[in-house]
Amino acid sequence: MSVQNEDIATLVVRWQASHGRNHLPWQNTRDPYRVWLSEVMLQQTQVATVLDYYARFLARFPDVRALAEAPQDDVLALWAGLGYYSRARNLHACARQVMERHGGAFPRTVEELSALPGIGRSTAGAIASFCFGVRAPILDANVRRVLTRVLGFDADLAVAKNERQLWAQAEALLPTQDLATSMPRYTQGLMDLGASICSPRKPACIVCPLNAACVARAEGNPEDYPVRTRKLNRSSQAWWLLLLRDAGGRLWLERRPQAGIWAGLYCPPAFEDRAALSGAVGAGDGDDGALHDLPASLHVLTHRDLHLHPVLVAQEEVSGRMAGEGEGSGSGWFDRAQWQALGLPAPIRKMLEALPLA
Ligand code: ADE
Repeated sequence: MSVQNEDIATLVVRWQASHGRNHLPWQNTRDPYRVWLSEVMLQQTQVATVLDYYARFLARFPDVRALAEAPQDDVLALWAGLGYYSRARNLHACARQVMERHGGAFPRTVEELSALPGIGRSTAGAIASFCFGVRAPILDANVRRVLTRVLGFDADLAVAKNERQLWAQAEALLPTQDLATSMPRYTQGLMDLGASICSPRKPACIVCPLNAACVARAEGNPEDYPVRTRKLNRSSQAWWLLLLRDAGGRLWLERRPQAGIWAGLYCPPAFEDRAALSGAVGAGDGDDGALHDLPASLHVLTHRDLHLHPVLVAQEEVSGRMAGEGEGSGSGWFDRAQWQALGLPAPIRKMLEALPLA
């Protein structure tokens, strides 16, 4: 049976209304602030995790002005645990640009939206279609899987030309009528299909509204899509973390540089190896009885495996940069109540909370 492009859009829209998700907290609104916040949180995080963060964020920053006026540290602290912290820094920068360059109102076109920090073409398409009924495609990982299967698009998406072609085909499939209602439904419908029926393994084609149109299903090989030859380049790194504790149970924490892993977050000083850590606290060769090694752990980041080796040291053993108070650099001594309010990477928070500090 041949199914036209127009029918595909209609089938997705109809299926979304009866079988899709329609009660998520960022739905049933056209407020671009709320939609934008949810889309950024959902870029790399599951719906179930986002729900609590989304509610807390909105309670603390009810609109784009409140977010723009907040100190970056407050934004990072509320983000702590969601990971991918560049999202939080971009979120804050984006709110400021919306205030400064757009008079506090999000722009309505994909072109202007994707010029803002942290908004790529797909997120821009989601905001424009959800809030303004703009005829714009999205292509996040789930939707890429749905569309490559339906279309039988088997060109290698590691090649930029092919990726552009898929965008063009995604655009050709969009609804053409009643855009104000059909675009939000269609966009959400593709996301919902990708999150439920059209799963990476063993998709439930039997109940899919697009099964009659789907090339991959006709071929019998939906799991072969999408095609991408280049794999993520993973590397591995070890960090020796100096957990420096003073007599009052405070910890020495430093702000990470603005680029790289956990940029801008607070963290114990990190060293490449144990010798460097030992040297920094002034323990000479064969004299490291003051160093107490705690169990190592592995933290998996997007492109890297991070092996964390915490070493606990009491302050009286220390000379050098950690001996005094921090001097306006963001470094300093923090008691438990203070560091719990800081933006700390989730695995670091967990590690510190398990420490006997009293
Ligand atoms: N993932 C990205 N955007 C989403 C949305 N609007 N609803 C559910 N999951 C999503």
